[in-house]
Formats: sequence, C-alpha cells, structure tokens
Amino acid sequence: MGIIKIKTAEEVELMRQAGRLAGAVLTETGRFIKPGQTTREIDRFAENLIRDGGGEPVFIGYRGYRHATCLSINHEVVHGVPGEQTVKEGDIVSVDVGVRLNGYCGDCAATFALGKVSPKAEKLLRIGRDCLKAAIKQARAGRHLGDVSHAVEALAEKNGFSVVRDLYGHGIGRDLHEDPLVPNYGQPGEGVELKPGMILAIEPMVNTGGWRIRTLSDGWTVVTEDGGLSCHFEHTVLITEKDPEILTWSKTKM
Ligand code: MF3
Ligand code: CO
Repeated sequence: MGIIKIKTAEEVELMRQAGRLAGAVLTETGRFIKPGQTTREIDRFAENLIRDGGGEPVFIGYRGYRHATCLSINHEVVHGVPGEQTVKEGDIVSVDVGVRLNGYCGDCAATFALGKVSPKAEKLLRIGRDCLKAAIKQARAGRHLGDVSHAVEALAEKNGFSVVRDLYGHGIGRDLHEDPLVPNYGQPGEGVELKPGMILAIEPMVNTGGWRIRTLSDGWTVVTEDGGLSCHFEHTVLITEKDPEILTWSKTKM
C-alpha cells in the first residue's frame, strides 16, 4: 500500500466542484434512461453533460476504455460497455460516471429500475443503497477502513445477499484510483485509520446470489458467475473533522 494523500483545503474545493458535476450527471442520466434506448445513446447523453459542465470523461482512455460511462444491466456487475444493446422495462441498469474537472476527479454510480421490476430486484436496490449509506456513516476520522468495509458486508449478508470480493472502492483525487483500496468486506477496527482530508470512492457491489464474478470476452464487462442480479452504488466521500461530506451528491434515489 502506498501513501494515502491528505487533500489540502484548495484541493478539497476542486474535488467538490468535480464531485458536484459527476453527481449532477448521474442525476440527469438517471432521469433520461428509458426502455428502448441503446446503451450507446445513454452514454452519449452522459458524455455531453460532462463536457457541457466543463469536465472530461475520466473513464475515456483509462486502460484503453473508450466510453464516458459504464452501463451494466441485470446480472452485469460493473464495467458494462455501452453499445447497441437496448435496455427494457423490468431491467435494472447500473450507471457509473467519472469526471475530471480542473485536474480533479469525481466518481459515482447508481443502479436504476426501469419501470416495474421484480420484488427481488427492488429489495436488492434498497439494500444496495442502504449498504452505501451504512458505509458512509463509518467514514469518519478515527474510524478504520475496516469499519467502512464491514458495514457493507454485514448489512448485505444480513439480508441474504453477497458482496463482490474481487473489486474495490478506492482513494480518489488527481487520479481516478489512488490509495487506499476500499473493500466491501472486512473486520471492524482493522486497516488504516481514517483522517480528515482523505477522500474515498466507496462503492458497494451487492449480488442476489453468490459473490463470484467473471469478466466477459470483451475484456471489460463483469458479470455474476451464477447469473444472479447485481447492483452498484458509489459516492466520492470526504473525511472531515465532523460528519462525512458526500462530494458527488445527487438527486438520484440513493
Ligand atoms: N468507475 C470505476 C471505478 O470506480 C472505474 C471504471 S473503469 C473504466 O473504479 F475503465 F471504465 F474507467
Ligand atoms: Co470508483
């Protein structure tokens, strides 16, 4: 593990601006999504909003990725690649948005229900949102990373779901991915102590079935191994002297 950067007050202000743009793009994209659209159309919509807001889509060019968003449907966990696939009534669609604005990054995601979805899907989204809230509640100076991680795992498992164990949240700043890794499972009190000025992208990925995942032959799309549904909720969060500050605040239900 490298060093966890403590952001200066100036950097925090720039991170707020980047986070605000990412959150607004998530809000508007969630409102835009409708059955019958291709994931390419949804991605274009989000990309235009990022650019209109003065930002750059930080995912483009990341390890050769070519799109502004990741759009992951039903049993797709994360990193779904926008293309000709259409979304339909009853689907759950995870939208992951990353922006860079004035040199700093914001990263957030949410899973949206298209029209009426199954009771199981509804429960998954409710628990996924609650997992993120529970994790953010632990993101306080003096707590440890394991407190954040454990909050996700405990709530998901109590509700009969599992958490993805091979993908993590992360520190964020000038770079999309900085130290530390933020697992969605762990032991309370373990891991590094959180300090004011740390900024974490906390991102529970919760499955209705088992936690195992695999990557499709496109090299990106991550799916559940057993075909169960998966959801993804993510905020960029600042550790402060007091309450955690959500930098990617969104009107999206999350
Ligand atoms: N949003 C993802 C994360 O939180 C990264 C997406 S990978 C990319 O780490 F290639 F699409 F950029
Ligand atoms: Co992220």
